[in-house]
Amino acid sequence: MTDTIGGHAKSGSEGDKTMVRVWDPLIRIFHWSLVVFFAIAWLTADELQPVHEIAGYAVAGLIAFRLAWGVIGSRYARFAQFMRGPAATFSYLGDMARGREHRYLGHNPAGAAMIVALLVTLSGTAFTGWLMEEPGRAVALSDLPQIVASAFADEESYEAGYSERQPEGSLKEIHETLANVLLVLVALHIGGVVLASFRHHENLARAMVTGTKRSAGPEDIS
Ligand code: HEM
Ligand code: HEM
Repeated sequence: MTDTIGGHAKSGSEGDKTMVRVWDPLIRIFHWSLVVFFAIAWLTADELQPVHEIAGYAVAGLIAFRLAWGVIGSRYARFAQFMRGPAATFSYLGDMARGREHRYLGHNPAGAAMIVALLVTLSGTAFTGWLMEEPGRAVALSDLPQIVASAFADEESYEAGYSERQPEGSLKEIHETLANVLLVLVALHIGGVVLASFRHHENLARAMVTGTKRSAGPEDIS
């Protein structure tokens, strides 16, 4: 068995089929670190607050990396390679329902939409967590226009109003709701991975570990 670097073919472990490199090492490390820190954040919520917050910040850092890597990363990591509009996504879902969707070497349009939903909801969860952690942050955010105005106003009366308001209760609800939405999204994400794996006779979770997939056939989209 020869090795695969940068898309060169090798005879892979799935019979004689040619394998190609799809997911670069950083995407794979990103994915499995995200799974680990997301799980830690969930398991420690309301139990072990310092660990919860560190895990939440780790998730935020991973997302920041992923956003940059989506622009400058390897071919299949780039948003431009896999992001599709709503029409293409719904047409792909329609094909799925009829059991005739194409196999994609990178992310398929439904998977791509799920990635956007996961990244946006994870960011919102980490951001509301960060806002909650320091009481003044949310007030300062909602007051941004007034903060500018207050530079010209009576400082004492502004600060009195500032300390009276307590947005933490509703923030906590938003934070928890987003965390629950994430659970649903993750369940759908794993369901999608399992379904696509069966449909196209390949283990997508293993591909996220090894980085390689069966090369594109004539009907596939690479
Ligand atoms: C054990 C559970 C999980 C498995 C087996 C799994 C598997 C996968 C697979 C196979 C892909 C690539 C999909 C494709 O081929 O198009 C993927 C992508 C992705 N997964 Fe998961 N996943 C799991 C849990 C999670 C969790 C918990 C999260 C987030 C909270 C997550 C977030 C993502 C993201 C953001 C991507 C996009 C990867 C990228 O291009 O950066 N996954 N996952
Ligand atoms: C994506 C990452 C995160 C997830 C999945 C998550 C999840 C959760 C969940 C499920 C709860 C509800 C616990 C309960 O009361 O039952 C919670 C509470 C909380 N989280 Fe997060 N969180 C994340 C990130 C963060 C971050 C970055 C911070 C702050 C730096 C944070 C701070 C808090 C605080 C202060 C609470 C309230 C604890 C309490 O007093 O009950 N979270 N989080």
